[in-house]
Amino acid sequence: MQKMKWNKKKVPIFPFIVLLLLVFIAFSTLHNGSTIHKFHENPLHIHQEQASSTTYVKPNLPNHLKKSQEILDRYSRCNSTVGYSGRKIARRGGSKSSSNRRVSSESCDVFSGKWVFDNASYPLYNESDCPYMSDQLACNKHGRTDLGYQHWRWQPHDCDLKRWNVKEMWEKLRGKRLMFVGDSLNRGQWISMVCLLQSEIPADKRSMSPNAHLTIFRAEEYNATVEFLWAPLLAESNSDDPVNHRLDERIIRPDSVLKHASLWEHADILVFNTYLWWRQGPVKLLWTDEENGACEELDGRGAMELAMGAWADWVSSKVDPLKKRVFFVTMSPTHLWSREWNPESEGNCYGEKKPIDVESYWGSGSDLPTMSSVENILSSLNSKVSVLNVTQLSEYRKDGHPSIFRKFWEPLRPEQLSNPSSYSDCIHWCLPGVPDTWNELLFHFL
Ligand SMILES: *[C@@H]1O[C@H](CO)[C@@H](O)[C@H](O)[C@H]1NC(C)=O
Ligand SMILES: *[C@@H]1O[C@H](CO)[C@@H](O)[C@H](O)[C@H]1NC(C)=O
Ligand SMILES: *[C@@H]1O[C@H](CO)[C@@H](O)[C@H](O)[C@H]1NC(C)=O
Ligand SMILES: *[C@@H]1O[C@H](CO)[C@@H](O)[C@H](O)[C@H]1NC(C)=O
Ligand SMILES: *[C@@H]1O[C@H](CO)[C@@H](O)[C@H](O)[C@H]1NC(C)=O
Ligand SMILES: *[C@@H]1O[C@H](CO)[C@@H](O)[C@H](O)[C@H]1NC(C)=O
Repeated sequence: MQKMKWNKKKVPIFPFIVLLLLVFIAFSTLHNGSTIHKFHENPLHIHQEQASSTTYVKPNLPNHLKKSQEILDRYSRCNSTVGYSGRKIARRGGSKSSSNRRVSSESCDVFSGKWVFDNASYPLYNESDCPYMSDQLACNKHGRTDLGYQHWRWQPHDCDLKRWNVKEMWEKLRGKRLMFVGDSLNRGQWISMVCLLQSEIPADKRSMSPNAHLTIFRAEEYNATVEFLWAPLLAESNSDDPVNHRLDERIIRPDSVLKHASLWEHADILVFNTYLWWRQGPVKLLWTDEENGACEELDGRGAMELAMGAWADWVSSKVDPLKKRVFFVTMSPTHLWSREWNPESEGNCYGEKKPIDVESYWGSGSDLPTMSSVENILSSLNSKVSVLNVTQLSEYRKDGHPSIFRKFWEPLRPEQLSNPSSYSDCIHWCLPGVPDTWNELLFHFL
């Protein structure tokens, strides 16, 4: 029986508060919601009772849906909250663990390499040529004039990446549904993919559906779609509204992926991510068999492990690797403290114009214990999931974030304007930019 390693975890409080604050600032600028996030109510202390034993719970898949089952939404509340009971998800089917590497056919590690300045072949598209560009990511449009960030090419140490070819990508997608599922970082990768692909299709032969839980780009002549499903926590949660999800507490159904799986299960190629939303403090768990609305509380990493367990159960029981490709994108790094790459400095990514060139640089935003639990879960799925391990290569790109050069949804106050790093977005990525490389990696493995 595995020990719950999240119990009694000591969190260094001060840097944790700063991280929460910065993450909060960036997230709160994401949407023009009218709710004010009551930040100070986020409990910072994690107090779980030591679980005496582990109970395994069967995950709840679409065909097990009880009619009475209430779907979580942003109005859902916990009736009461107790400590985590230690329940875990029982995985059906699926061989438990084998040391087979997923990218085993690949002799070269394409995720290990360096950034090379290449203004001859990059960017792969122009920001202003993409009608589907997001105002959160269009850095040049919002005043960024140093455009070096668009000109870097990822060069693996021991081989070359397959060269991006838009026609070849469309041929791979012919008659298929490609779906990105996850949070705003994954949405950025989806927008990058649409921008990379759209120029091939005449304007009257393509369309984009309105922004919704599921948003769909269609290309008629290829009978193909490139879709984005908003599911920041993968599991069903109270934050699944694509616009209004700024809530005081996060509630998930750890044993349920049903709300989302019914939408993603028919896609041919799936690209998942999840990470940053688990870094905002404790999460409330509402198990599907809980009838009185009583929640359990667990720290973010533990809750992420539960949600990924339910997701992994879906993969192992539903994915036929001959018919469906599934990718998981590892955590996207943040650059919130410049002292990590430039000791004694006090800023963040604001003003950064060049990548970090220290081999293996790793910032504190990319949580190693999370990475290793992700690796454990993915390795138990063997060949059913391919990893896009973008963390290390993106760690180098302190220059790649929008900082102040994006649309902010709430008016900026004078004290913010006088101190640009105070409202810089060092979480998302400018386009064209780093997510284009994530998509080149996807192309490489398709
Ligand atoms: C590319 O970069 C080189 C070196 O910085 C510069 O001399 C050249 O003018 C640039 N070319 C273009 C097309 O921007
Ligand atoms: C971007 O625009 C420039 C100048 O307008 C043009 O020379 C270049 O070919 C364009 N690049 C792409 C990838 O379309
Ligand atoms: C288009 O693709 C869908 C699957 O995404 C398939 O069911 C349908 O038959 C295709 N239509 C044509 C005309 O090929
Ligand atoms: C909360 O508890 C009350 C009384 O115990 C009950 O009537 C109500 O249905 C519960 N709410 C939920 C969401 O289960
Ligand atoms: C991703 O790569 C890093 C090294 O850069 C490694 O430590 C980590 O385990 C890898 N993650 C996965 C899920 O394979
Ligand atoms: C934000 O929403 C308010 C109304 O809720 C609206 O008046 C305001 O113009 C919006 N701001 C932006 C930047 O969209």
